[in-house]
Amino acid sequence: MAHVAVVTGGTRGIGRAICLSLQRDGFTVVANYGGNDDKARAFTDETGIPAYKFDVGDHEATLAACEKIADEVGVIDVVVNNAGITRDGTLLKMSYEEWDDVMRTNLGGCFNMAKATFAGMKERKWGRIVNIGSINGQAGQYGQVNYAAAKSGIHGFTKALAQEGARYGITVNAIAPGYIDTDMVAAVPENVLEKIVAKIPVGRLGQASEIARGVSFLASEEGAFITGSTLSINGGQHMY
Ligand SMILES: NC(=O)c1ccc[n+]([C@@H]2O[C@H](COP(=O)([O-])OP(=O)(O)OC[C@H]3O[C@@H](n4cnc5c(N)ncnc54)[C@H](OP(=O)(O)O)[C@@H]3O)[C@@H](O)[C@H]2O)c1
Repeated sequence: MAHVAVVTGGTRGIGRAICLSLQRDGFTVVANYGGNDDKARAFTDETGIPAYKFDVGDHEATLAACEKIADEVGVIDVVVNNAGITRDGTLLKMSYEEWDDVMRTNLGGCFNMAKATFAGMKERKWGRIVNIGSINGQAGQYGQVNYAAAKSGIHGFTKALAQEGARYGITVNAIAPGYIDTDMVAAVPENVLEKIVAKIPVGRLGQASEIARGVSFLASEEGAFITGSTLSINGGQHMY
């Protein structure tokens, strides 16, 4: 039977591309989303992939939703923690709420999804967790102390959980995308975006499918020896 893969924030942008890629790989895919019902409905109509609405930042709601998915679709063997938001502003202008929203969603979401699924993976001795970090978590970014901290936290979370899962056939990895052509980047002012693209050695934004390809690679059977790693997919913008 095909493994069930849940992609958080799977109905739009990078998550959508990840869903399609995992579906092509033969996984039974389930998408999650936060609030945009129209996009979610259109996504399910187009792809046949069910979409479950819950806030990944809400611990109880995430546990309950994962139980529902396990009942309705099947036990969850693959988790892609992709749901993420930005609430940009310099520290002096950033409210506590903007800090907390981003930490709760981007980093808390990873914890909540792992809590909901890790025990089952351990029992079945197979699992794949792929966390979507960011170039801005690696390098920092002006006006993003919340986002950079959460994404940087994802990289630490990945390395720690990888150590806990290794003996049980569970791999935990991260992908750090550079600037990808999605709604999130469309929100960046054009003059700022031009400056960003000028700093990308390949000379363009990335495509969501190029991140999805990395997730497919890490989620595959052949990815079994890769754990605790971060795959940078950023057009050469940040190398270390
Ligand atoms: N785009 C980039 O250049 C870039 C670069 C580096 C890293 N990333 C990371 O890649 C991931 C995807 O980014 P994207 O650009 O594809 O974003 P996006 O187009 O804004 O889509 C975000 C997705 O996350 C969902 N979501 C947001 N908050 C949620 C919550 N609390 N609970 C459940 N789902 C929630 C959204 O659902 P709704 O449709 O219901 O709102 C949507 O499906 C994010 O983690 C982002 O930080 C993006």
